[in-house]
Amino acid sequence: MSNRPRLTTEAGAPVADNQHSQTAGAAGPVLLQDHHLLEKLARFNRERIPERVVHAVGSGAYGYFEVTHPNLSHYTLMKLFDTKGKRTEVFLRFSTVAGSKGAPDTARDPRGFAVRFYTEDGNWDVVGNNTPVFFLRDGIKFPDFIHSQKYDPFTNCQEPDNQWDFFSYSPEATHQFTWLFGDRGIPATLRNMDGFGSHTFQWVNAKGERFWVKFHFKTDQGIRTLSSEEAAAIGGRDPQHHQRDLYAALERGEFPSWTLKVQVMPEADAPTYRFNPFDLTKVWPYKDYPLIEVGKLVLNRAPDNYFADVEQAALDPSNFVPGIGPSPDRMLQARLFAYGDAQRYRLGINHTRLPVNSPRGVQGGARNYGRDGAMAFDGNGGRHKNYEPNSYHGPAQSGDATGLGVSVTGLTGTYVPVRHAEDNDFVQAGNLYRVMSEPERQRLVENIAGSLSQVSREDVITRAIAHFRNADEEYGARVAKAVHDKRRSR
Ligand code: HEM
Repeated sequence: MSNRPRLTTEAGAPVADNQHSQTAGAAGPVLLQDHHLLEKLARFNRERIPERVVHAVGSGAYGYFEVTHPNLSHYTLMKLFDTKGKRTEVFLRFSTVAGSKGAPDTARDPRGFAVRFYTEDGNWDVVGNNTPVFFLRDGIKFPDFIHSQKYDPFTNCQEPDNQWDFFSYSPEATHQFTWLFGDRGIPATLRNMDGFGSHTFQWVNAKGERFWVKFHFKTDQGIRTLSSEEAAAIGGRDPQHHQRDLYAALERGEFPSWTLKVQVMPEADAPTYRFNPFDLTKVWPYKDYPLIEVGKLVLNRAPDNYFADVEQAALDPSNFVPGIGPSPDRMLQARLFAYGDAQRYRLGINHTRLPVNSPRGVQGGARNYGRDGAMAFDGNGGRHKNYEPNSYHGPAQSGDATGLGVSVTGLTGTYVPVRHAEDNDFVQAGNLYRVMSEPERQRLVENIAGSLSQVSREDVITRAIAHFRNADEEYGARVAKAVHDKRRSR
């Protein structure tokens, strides 16, 4: 025992006995004066922080991104991409969406694929999913959608009635539902799935030319998936199956990697493109805008402490760096507010100064006049002035033009989004169904029917099936038959 470091209280005083509480004699009650006991119990009571309101179940790892493209400066000012071979440290957090902490990570659910690049110009976060599209195209519907997916206010269970009721009034979700109930809806491991920025973002180059860009992280391990039955069996045995797999791979030195590719659209193409390029329920077909390889993302280190680096990670789609900015995608615009707000509630105002969140790629770190607040632990700016402008050589604005921008016309108001020539809610869902092989279609229909057949209301089922029919008549008819058969055999 004598060689071991000394156990202390929070205030640093040596602890003489960590096995026995102080008592009134050997057989008497415990004393209120046992500060070590009280402090230990009080700290224990405060170990949990609010879980993320969505994406609560997650796994994270560090690694690096290396540029393989000779030069992207004709598209973007982003320094991260300016030289072939350049490496930038990254942190990636994978997650499921609907389950609360402790729920199986093998659920049929989109997977979050949230990457932070610690660039020399600050943190750039791509907070995407393993799907190129989403259920909705306007952030105003997001809280209702999530309520329909999470626990019912009365039963406290996830309810197929709620999920399908909401869907039946949200035809724009047909594409994402088709994706989710298809084979890729449950990855075999976190290493065997792709990641997507999903939204359209804006790039700008040194000449002020602007482009629309989408990000795709293609797994180098190959796509592997689980069937609904496999996932239920594995998740029942081991709710942290994906977490365990990722950390085991990293500990074995088997470092997973993804090839980053982009689709780039010149700014002028957007108004006449056949789909609204800012509609998150749509993809840009590769034949319209082919993939361009940019670099490789490699994960090579599990964080030493899960809570410190994964639970406290605060990835935020509004973390941009010079050369990139938001598009008018309404979902993205809502997210620009939601994440920082969630993190100020979940972690507090000084969460940006935690090691996983601080801009460690920037020389000298973050420099600004934000001060104080709960847990200002890093010197809090010391003696430096806390206002600007000042005559004390404090940090000052760069004055650089961003070059970013969106040209707008019209009155403010609430509008249905602009429809482009081939836009409707079903066209890409139907296309996705039709590129599936027959066994894939069969599994898709079975998976949908497995869930939809549990719905108690006929009108909900009828409205939901109508969306699949609108995507493809055969698709809808097969879902209708499979639901009917399952309900009859119950
Ligand atoms: C307007 C719609 C949306 C809103 C309001 C919203 C809101 C949120 C909030 C509040 C969090 C928790 C953040 C935290 O506590 O750190 C979160 C997490 C997350 N969201 Fe969204 N979200 C939206 C849409 C999306 C979309 C479209 C995607 C993907 C394309 C997405 C991907 C994620 C991911 C990956 C996380 C977990 C980040 C992490 O690993 O810490 N969300 N979302």
